[in-house]
Amino acid sequence: MSWIRQSDEKKSSTRILVEKIIKEGKIPSHIAIIMDGNRRFARKNGLSSVQMGHSLGFETLANTLEWCSHFGITTVTVYAFSIENYKRSEEELAGLWNIVREKMNRLFQEEGKLREKGVRVRILGNLSLLPKDIQKLVSRAMKMTLNNNQATLNVCLSYTSREEIAQAMKKCAQGVQDGIILSSDIDERVLERCLYTADEHGYNPPQLLIRTSGEVRLSDFLLWQSSFSVLSFVRVLWPEFSVWHFYGVLLHFQSCWGEVSKLLEEHKKNIEELDEREILEIVSRDCIKCCDTELNQKVKDYKEDRQIRLNNFFQWLNRRREETIESMLL
Ligand code: FPP
Ligand code: MG
Repeated sequence: MSWIRQSDEKKSSTRILVEKIIKEGKIPSHIAIIMDGNRRFARKNGLSSVQMGHSLGFETLANTLEWCSHFGITTVTVYAFSIENYKRSEEELAGLWNIVREKMNRLFQEEGKLREKGVRVRILGNLSLLPKDIQKLVSRAMKMTLNNNQATLNVCLSYTSREEIAQAMKKCAQGVQDGIILSSDIDERVLERCLYTADEHGYNPPQLLIRTSGEVRLSDFLLWQSSFSVLSFVRVLWPEFSVWHFYGVLLHFQSCWGEVSKLLEEHKKNIEELDEREILEIVSRDCIKCCDTELNQKVKDYKEDRQIRLNNFFQWLNRRREETIESMLL
């Protein structure tokens, strides 16, 4: 099964109409998916192994990517393997790694198609925990698609959100220790640039997060990034997820986004206000007898200096990301 599908099936008039209606509304630019229920699907349908459930899960992923592309959804982030999943049986892990190997090799064959569609593939998580050969494959895939810039597929592999946040804190601490930033420069906007999901262009959280299988929890997936996402819990197992379920979650998203986006805008405003207050407090400490004009100038200088420090820090983060990929290729 290919990563890039181009369905030539003829759509029914009902589907054409439903798509037309959905396209009248807001379409999320980034969706995240917890693809849950592969093993239950395998058991329910008497398949010979859970690996078959995971393979069918990949087919559903490829279909979903095609539907996303059709609706102009440019970033998709999927939960493919949690750090908790290392506790699964040897047999299941071996099967999962074989699927990853097979799919990565398929991806290399599809380099041209990915370039044509401008799809960048990123593998996110603590990649040092992965088997060595998989580390090589995923780093090769990331390097191969690095310059594609029309759409991004983030595959979270060896990932949990709490580990991601802890790693982000370590990066901030390292930045302070190396004298690149000051501890007072760290706020949520800086921390989120250190998350695995951020890239050289910045931080881009999902507007819609979907979980299949009927489980109503996040299982340590994108805990930070989903603060202002519409959450859609769908009561089907991942291999059963069809285009009609996809239409359903888009319509659910459209009914909720107005409220959620207002909260997001309010939050951004609050952050700006808090920041202004904090800067004023920092600057005032060394400027007790300053008049307003002097104080305003000091605030302006402080902001400029901070921006320089932050730009250096973001460049340092980018170099670290590139070095991680290079080191895994060896
Ligand atoms: C969750 O269902 C699914 C997984 C842990 C694996 C998902 C992996 C794929 C679909 C393959 C992806 C591969 C690439 C290269 C992107 P589950 O195993 O938790 O099933 P259950 O909830 O029924 O137990
Ligand atoms: Mg599960």
